Amino acid sequence: MASQVTALKWRPQTFDDLVGQEVVSQTLKNAIKSDRVHHAYLFAGLRGSGKTSSARIFAKALNCEQGPTDTPCLKCPSCEEIKLGNALDVVEIDAASNNSVDNIRELRELVRYNAARDRYKIYIIDEVHMLTTSAFNALLKTLEEPPPNVVFIMATTELHKIPATILSRCQQFDFRQIPLFKIEARLRVIADSSKLDIDDESLTLVAQASGGSMRDALSIFDQVIAASGEKITGLDVRSILGVVEDAILIDLLTGVVKQSADQVFGRINELVHYGHDLKQVYETFTGFIRDSIVLKSCADTSELLERRYGHGDSHQETLGDMGTPDLIRMLDVLVKHEPVFRQAASPRYAFELVFLKLLEQRKLVPIERMLDDLKTFVENEKKNG
Ligand SMILES: Nc1ncnc2c1ncn2[C@@H]1O[C@H](COP(=O)(O)OP(=O)(O)OP(=O)(O)O)[C@@H](O)[C@H]1O
Ligand SMILES: [Mg+2]
Ligand SMILES: [Zn+2]
Repeated sequence: MASQVTALKWRPQTFDDLVGQEVVSQTLKNAIKSDRVHHAYLFAGLRGSGKTSSARIFAKALNCEQGPTDTPCLKCPSCEEIKLGNALDVVEIDAASNNSVDNIRELRELVRYNAARDRYKIYIIDEVHMLTTSAFNALLKTLEEPPPNVVFIMATTELHKIPATILSRCQQFDFRQIPLFKIEARLRVIADSSKLDIDDESLTLVAQASGGSMRDALSIFDQVIAASGEKITGLDVRSILGVVEDAILIDLLTGVVKQSADQVFGRINELVHYGHDLKQVYETFTGFIRDSIVLKSCADTSELLERRYGHGDSHQETLGDMGTPDLIRMLDVLVKHEPVFRQAASPRYAFELVFLKLLEQRKLVPIERMLDDLKTFVENEKKNG
């Protein structure tokens, strides 16, 4: 499938190539430089954020002919074979399809043999959360006291499914969502090196749709390229991805701020008329309110926003009319109703219901304002009396 191509072609090959996981790469580099290599690692975090890639980079760093080194040469047989996935001393196991206790017993037997050629024998166990309880138990002893020069690197997207007994025997690394601007920058490098005529807005839209996963960003990127002509603009990408326009979000928000049921219902009517996916609008609107809170509360928002907002002025103006507590109350309603919304037989009614609640809520005077008013009243009474 075409969507695989860019992600695979652009798999990071060195620590410096890895985007947005600086803490991880720095710590692993330090471990190598100071010769403090642990025997069991757990890479946990978001899908498509660099876990398998980092495991392979670390394997190269350990087994490179010129190593151990934090800058593997990428040319020696070890580096080459690890890249291609056929190194004898780097064994990749997919725990999703090898999750039984027998599989782990086989692994335990294997572990007893020394590395065939390279410095370390490295086992990369992917999707490790898929192991059965007895398989995990069978693994414990080996993790605790592996033979010398054996390194385990386990990877998972579901940290909460890993037993505490395993966690306490591993060094854990967290793979974070990759910030929007770093994904944009990577996409720009890839687009330019592929000589693609694509504007910045398009790349922003792709990065926004990725949820911080680089693999998702690259798959969406491939999807956009496949569906577009030679020149790709934001307008094309919006329609390919069904992106919700900023203007819609701002209109819905000002409708609530002004308590205009006409505006809110009118907008929803249009959304339905133009065939928007209301679930996607709901999710985007929730993210928009969340981002608005971030904009109002945080000094440095560069790594925090999920989206960029083109209509800066009208957004700022609307936000000016709202206090952060107002926005927090809105977010509360949106988040709490998300499960209701997801199960609703008619998304339109659920959507309208949520907005009716937001409108109602605006009518209620927040407690802090009431207290303020009361204070002013008492002070005035004192002055006058
Ligand atoms: N941090 C990153 N920097 C650069 N590219 C990345 C990064 N993370 C992922 N990618 C891209 O996504 C592809 C898949 O990454 P990788 O296999 O390392 O993800 P993963 O975290 O193991 O995902 P999963 O949880 O689904 O196994 C890579 O080939 C690469 O193109
Ligand atoms: Mg992986
Ligand atoms: Zn090498």
